[in-house]
Amino acid sequence: MSTIKEQLIAKFQDRSAHVAILGLGYVGLPLAVVFGEAGFHVTGIDPIAEKVEMLNKGESYVLDVPSAQVTDLVKKGRLNATTDFAALREADAVSICVPTPLRKTGDPDLSFVVSASNELAKHVHAGMVIVLESTTYPGTTRELILPQLEQNSGLKCGKDFFLAFSPERVDPGREDWTTINTPKVVGGITADCLDAAVAWYCQALQKVVPVSSAEVAEMAKLLENTFRMINIGLVNEMAIMCDRLGVDVWDVIEAAATKPFGFMKFTPGPGLGGHCIPIDPLYLSWKLRALNYTAKFIELASEINTNMPRFVVGKTQDALNDRQKPVNGSKILVLGAAYKPDIDDLRESPALDVIGLLMRKGANVSYHDPYIAQISHEGWQMQSVSNLEAAVRQADCVIIVTNHKVYDYPAILKSAQLIIDTRNALGEMGRGNPKVVRL
Ligand SMILES: NC(=O)c1ccc[n+]([C@@H]2O[C@H](COP(=O)([O-])OP(=O)(O)OC[C@H]3O[C@@H](n4cnc5c(N)ncnc54)[C@H](O)[C@@H]3O)[C@@H](O)[C@H]2O)c1
Repeated sequence: MSTIKEQLIAKFQDRSAHVAILGLGYVGLPLAVVFGEAGFHVTGIDPIAEKVEMLNKGESYVLDVPSAQVTDLVKKGRLNATTDFAALREADAVSICVPTPLRKTGDPDLSFVVSASNELAKHVHAGMVIVLESTTYPGTTRELILPQLEQNSGLKCGKDFFLAFSPERVDPGREDWTTINTPKVVGGITADCLDAAVAWYCQALQKVVPVSSAEVAEMAKLLENTFRMINIGLVNEMAIMCDRLGVDVWDVIEAAATKPFGFMKFTPGPGLGGHCIPIDPLYLSWKLRALNYTAKFIELASEINTNMPRFVVGKTQDALNDRQKPVNGSKILVLGAAYKPDIDDLRESPALDVIGLLMRKGANVSYHDPYIAQISHEGWQMQSVSNLEAAVRQADCVIIVTNHKVYDYPAILKSAQLIIDTRNALGEMGRGNPKVVRL
């Protein structure tokens, strides 16, 4: 007679397994679509009724997922969404893709993971595999989720049901590496948990990388993002040092990048943004603090990156000053509000800090972003200007915060009086141009 694990694996192979995705955001929706495309019946569960309604109508709200793809899957009966967690009763395989933000105090906010796993605990049943995808500190899967699932159900992990961690590596807006072809690291609570999770994911994803434990998978994600955060911190500090020295940091980076080995190119900017790089390493440093260890590189890089919006505002103030203008009362247009180019994600965007700091100095600030129609943040609201050309012409200063590809940079350069280019969006056009201040 076959074991529970073998029966589950057989269901993945013949596509009779029913998949559920908890959390239909930037990570969960693309994953749901990938499983749907692989032939599974997928139910997405999310407490936000508007998202659920849109998906059931075949409409996507994530830029990387075309509505046509959602419509097709909904029509074929391979994708549906609900706010009702009772749908978990029918699920053989569940991915948890809920947010893991920070609290105002800078500590991890695991309330979404806890509430998702509370719901799962009510419906976990024999022959179910559960994979946590949300980025978190090492130990979350084993220390937080496992006890909840076992205590409430009386089932045994690794025998009756299976639990694993698999970090999501998706880079929104990217077209070469997407959910389907980015290698997927998976670590199980037990060896059988790993087998079950790998058997599921390898049906839909091109490359699955099994690792020795859930903790290795959790820590690998934090190493990847800490690596980025620290290197961005380093290159941001290079920009500050080059500024003091009167050396062009962009030229320095290009020169260093000609080395064919031992150097990896990172570029400076107005600060870190998004739901991952500024936040995930702080999950690690928080966990280490509880073990009486200070994650020094993380703290330092975080401090440098957090101060970049202030550096940008300082450059703006100096440039206006050179033109006998105070920041107070000047018209300043922020170009691009998303945290990185060509996406519509505003979370933790440095544009929010740049705008807030300038407003506090009395500037008359407006912004334009083709993907973000309005901003409501810490007591202020703003709408993206409707006439970009006129706004550029009328501004005393334009700050390029996010270098969206759709912008016509030569036209912007022609109309603007002064540009602070924090991303080298103007490239050679900006070099030596008296209207342009590069970071
Ligand atoms: N966005 C990225 O680029 C990215 C990349 C890699 C990893 N991650 C990680 O993936 C996780 C999800 O990020 P995201 O960007 O998709 O977040 P998101 O905010 O876009 O989506 C999360 C969704 O979960 C829903 N949700 C909240 N509580 C829930 C619950 N109890 N049950 C079911 N759904 C619930 C929310 O309504 C929301 O729709 C985070 O841990 C994040 O760090 C994100």
